[in-house]
Amino acid sequence: MTNKQAEPSLFIILGGTGDLSRGKLLPAIGRLAVDGRIAENCQVLGVARDIRHDDASFRRLASDAMAASGLQPDEIAGLCNSRLHYQTIGNGEAADYLALGARIENIERQNSLPARRTFYLAIPTAALGDTLSGLGRAGLNHSGGWVRIVIEKPFGHDLQSARELVGVVREHFDEHQVYRIDHYLGKETVQNLIVFRFGNPIFESLWNRDRIDSVQISVSEEVGIGTRAGYYDRSGALRDMVQNHLTQLLTLLAMEVPPVIGAESVRYEKVKVLRSIAPILRGEVVFGQYEEGKIRGQTVPGYRDENGVPADSGTETFVALKLEIMNWRWQGVPFYLRTGKRMPRRITRIGVRFKNAPVCMFEVEGACVVRPNTLLLTLQPDEGFSLHIGVKKPGSASDVEQIPLAFRYSDIFDAMPDAYQTLVLDVLKGDQTLFVHSDEVLESWKLYDPLLRQEKKVYPYAAGTWGPAEAGHLAISERVLFETF
Ligand code: BG6
Repeated sequence: MTNKQAEPSLFIILGGTGDLSRGKLLPAIGRLAVDGRIAENCQVLGVARDIRHDDASFRRLASDAMAASGLQPDEIAGLCNSRLHYQTIGNGEAADYLALGARIENIERQNSLPARRTFYLAIPTAALGDTLSGLGRAGLNHSGGWVRIVIEKPFGHDLQSARELVGVVREHFDEHQVYRIDHYLGKETVQNLIVFRFGNPIFESLWNRDRIDSVQISVSEEVGIGTRAGYYDRSGALRDMVQNHLTQLLTLLAMEVPPVIGAESVRYEKVKVLRSIAPILRGEVVFGQYEEGKIRGQTVPGYRDENGVPADSGTETFVALKLEIMNWRWQGVPFYLRTGKRMPRRITRIGVRFKNAPVCMFEVEGACVVRPNTLLLTLQPDEGFSLHIGVKKPGSASDVEQIPLAFRYSDIFDAMPDAYQTLVLDVLKGDQTLFVHSDEVLESWKLYDPLLRQEKKVYPYAAGTWGPAEAGHLAISERVLFETF
C-alpha cells in the first residue's frame, strides 16, 4: 500500500504456463514494469511440468499474454527479451527441486541479484502440499535475502482441511513469509473502504449500533459457472464466495479502528470481528440453485444442465444469510450477506441503512414519507458511492423524495489498476496488509463449517432473477440495493 518502487528480486511462478499466470500474473508484471513500479533488474522465472518449453517459448507465451491485456509490444520488449526465464519442475521429484534451486542461483548470479525470492504458487489446490514440501526439503524456503510464498484461494475445503493446509505451510514457512491472496482485497474500491471509514470521521462517528439499522453486502454475478463445473460442483457459493470474499468485505466494514494501517494491526482487528460473530442460525441461511432463465433477453441453461454438472446436483449457486456481530459496536445490527450466479446483472454493492427518525414529521395521507438514509458503496462495476437523503419535492406540501449524493470513480479518475497488479506489487514490497492471515482463514471456516455439515435445502430460482423468493427476508431491499444511481 506504499508508493515506493519494489527492489530487485526474482519472481518465480510455479504454474508459469497456466491460466492464472497468462491471464493475470504476467500481465500484472508487464504493467508494473512499464509503469516503473518494479526495479529494472527484477527477473521472472516461469516454472511448470512441461518439458517442451524453454526460455524462448516462455518469452513468446508471456509476450502474447501481456499483449492480450493491452500492453504494446515495444513497451514490453525489454522485459520479454531478457528478463523472463523458464525451468521445468518435471515430476516434482527431490532432484527437480534441487535443479530449480541451481537455476535460481544461476539467474541471480548472472544478474547480480541478492537472494530475494517470491514463489507464486499458481497451481491447483491438490498440488499445494507436495509443492510446499518440495520447496522446503530443497532448502528453498530460506535464502541469504528473503523468501516469500504466495498462495491462492481456496485455503481449504472446510475447517479440518484448512487446519491441515495451515499446518503444511507452517512446517516449512513462517507466517511473515506467507501471502494468501483474496483478490477482492486487491480491488481499489475494497481498499477504499478503509479510507472511507478512517479518512472521513463524519462516517466513523455514525458507524455503530446507535445509528445503523442494518448492513447488506451483496455480490451478484451475471455469469454462470462456465467451464469450471469440476471445481464448482464440489465447492458451491458458500465456499467459493462467502467464506472468503464476502467475509473479507464484512471484516473491513465492521472492524474497530486499528492503531495504524499496517498488516499486523489491520489483520488483528479483522480477526476480532470474526471471533465476535454469533453462530449462524439455520433459519437465517437460504441456499439457491439457478434454473433455466433469461438474461438480457438470452435464454441460459439451468445449473444442472451445465457441462460437467451431475443432473441431480445439490450444489448451491446462491446464498443469503444473516450474521450478528456480538460486540459493543454492532450488537443487534443484522449483517446480510448475499451472493449468486446468473443474477440479472453483475454488481457488488454494500448497502448501509441508517436508523429512521424516532418520530415521523412528514406524512402524506397518513403515511410517513421519510425513508431511512442509505449509503451505497458500489465496488464494481461503475465504482462509486451514493448517500441517499430526503429532499422536499418542490411544489408539494410535504412530499419527500430520496435523492442520491453520488460519486463515480470514472468521472474523476483514470482506469483502475487490476487487483493483481496491486497484490503482486505488495508482495514484492513485503507489505502483508492486503493478504489473509492464517488466523483469519481458520476463524472464517469455524463460522461456516457447521453450515457445511447440516443437511441443506436448496431452492430453485430462475436465471435472470435476484435469487429464490425464500431469501426475501434476508435482505434490505432489492430496490435500494440494485437500482442504478
Ligand atoms: C472467484 C470465484 O474467486 O471470484 C468465482 O471463484 C467468481 O466463482 C469470482 O466468479 C468473482 O470475482 P470478480 O472479481 O469477478 O468479482
